[in-house]
Amino acid sequence: MQEKILILDFGSQYTQLIARRIREINVYCEIYPFNHFPDPDESVKGVILSGSPSSVRDKNPPTPELSKIKGTIPLLGVCYGAQHLVHSYGGEVLPSKNREYGRAKLISVNNSNPLFSKIDSGTQIWMSHADTIARIPESYEIIGSTIDVKAGAFQIKDENTWGIQFHPEVYHTTEGTQILKNFVVGICGCSQDWTPDSFAEIAIKNLQTQLGNDKVLLGLSGGVDSSVAAFLLHKAIGKNLTCIFVDNGLLRKNEFKKVLESYLGLGLNVKGVDAADKFLNQLEGVSDPETKRKIIGRVFIEVFDEEARKVKDVKWLAQGTIYPDVIESVSVNGPSATIKSHHNVGGLPEKMHLKVVEPLRLLFKDEVRRVGHALGLPDFILKRHPFPGPGLAIRLLGKMTREKLEILKEADDIFIEGLKKNGLYDSVWQAGVILLPVQSVGVMGDERTYENAVVLRAVTSTDGMTADWSHLPYEFLGAISNEIINKVKGINRVVFDISSKPPSTIEWE
Ligand code: XMP
Repeated sequence: MQEKILILDFGSQYTQLIARRIREINVYCEIYPFNHFPDPDESVKGVILSGSPSSVRDKNPPTPELSKIKGTIPLLGVCYGAQHLVHSYGGEVLPSKNREYGRAKLISVNNSNPLFSKIDSGTQIWMSHADTIARIPESYEIIGSTIDVKAGAFQIKDENTWGIQFHPEVYHTTEGTQILKNFVVGICGCSQDWTPDSFAEIAIKNLQTQLGNDKVLLGLSGGVDSSVAAFLLHKAIGKNLTCIFVDNGLLRKNEFKKVLESYLGLGLNVKGVDAADKFLNQLEGVSDPETKRKIIGRVFIEVFDEEARKVKDVKWLAQGTIYPDVIESVSVNGPSATIKSHHNVGGLPEKMHLKVVEPLRLLFKDEVRRVGHALGLPDFILKRHPFPGPGLAIRLLGKMTREKLEILKEADDIFIEGLKKNGLYDSVWQAGVILLPVQSVGVMGDERTYENAVVLRAVTSTDGMTADWSHLPYEFLGAISNEIINKVKGINRVVFDISSKPPSTIEWE
């Protein structure tokens, strides 16, 4: 039985970070809404209460039902979680005089307490709260304070329950990982055996049990998630997995061929389907972005469905859903932000009467890469930038034509290959070229030109929800601009996008 830590989510923006930090110390954990979590069985070694944008002094504050946990299983309240443990058990929480936000130092630390083992006085922590604990109940003992906050951390005497008003999961809490480790390993006794290798091994066994001799279909996009999902299934059920990789004509230059060859070289049972004409015929002349997306989604389903019907007796459709999608869909206050709908195969399982299998639904993105690495996938697949499902169609602004698509492919290829050659590709999260529906005057040789402008877009990010423009070297940008204008007929101007998200987005449409 996989031992685990439960994290009860009260809606803090940092809840996922707590989970990621714990998994980084090779301990498995799961996030649940504070009011909807399974009864803890013996696999649950400890429970963490997250922070929250709410206040315990609100009229109806989020209140968890802890009777099967508190006093029985080790429990750690973080920020709101700590304040709840005070407010609901006889102490007092009041608005802070000043909002306690930012860096602070724990000036007195009881490091004989197991939560603070190896933590010294003076360590930097990160605070973010508008309320503060004014009085703790009698049975509580303070184990850490800052200059402004006496009850920075406490333990309930003779009970496996702790509270901290700061955020150990945030990078600025210098020894935050050690504190979380003290809790999950030292106090909860977790054995740190959650590694990509062990995950892969267990996942493969589970898939074998779940799927038996059934046949499974999977739509490959060339991206990291669907590739890793495919290889896990391939290791589990071999030829019973059929992958379908559709060329929609909107991938990067030579991408379809390169990726397909590398899948085949790795032994995957994959069928490449050239459907470029089907997509491009329907897109010709279309300029509205949402109409482009709808056409691409619809044609994809048609093509996939047609190919899928050629495989007999399929029972399952595999999808590369990852953990953030799963948590978003169960989160307390609904999804924290609505991004464009990215699921190209939405609606497929129902249409084809297939059951859904999601081998990565427990993993964060960085873990997907690590599992891929453990399965022996090459960096060429694991380190590639994210690429939108509708592909270059949404980077070609204005009316779609095949001719413009070819121009965009050439320019994009020069930029991406340039990033790789100059060792910049891995420091950029996502990059691409956007073809503008704008002509401008130029001069080449003795002639005036009136041709298209393109935008170079490159961003740094961790999850695409927020992003900063990449500060690429001027010399590099200059060289790429020259190369594009010299080599790509139809482009006479190159500009660089220096907008961050928010308020802009990564894509232009
Ligand atoms: P935005 O432009 O919203 O993009 O900042 C965030 C991330 O999502 C990708 N993206 C898409 N991916 N289908 C996809 O599969 C889409 O319609 C789509 N639109 C945006 C974008 O490339 C970036 O990684």
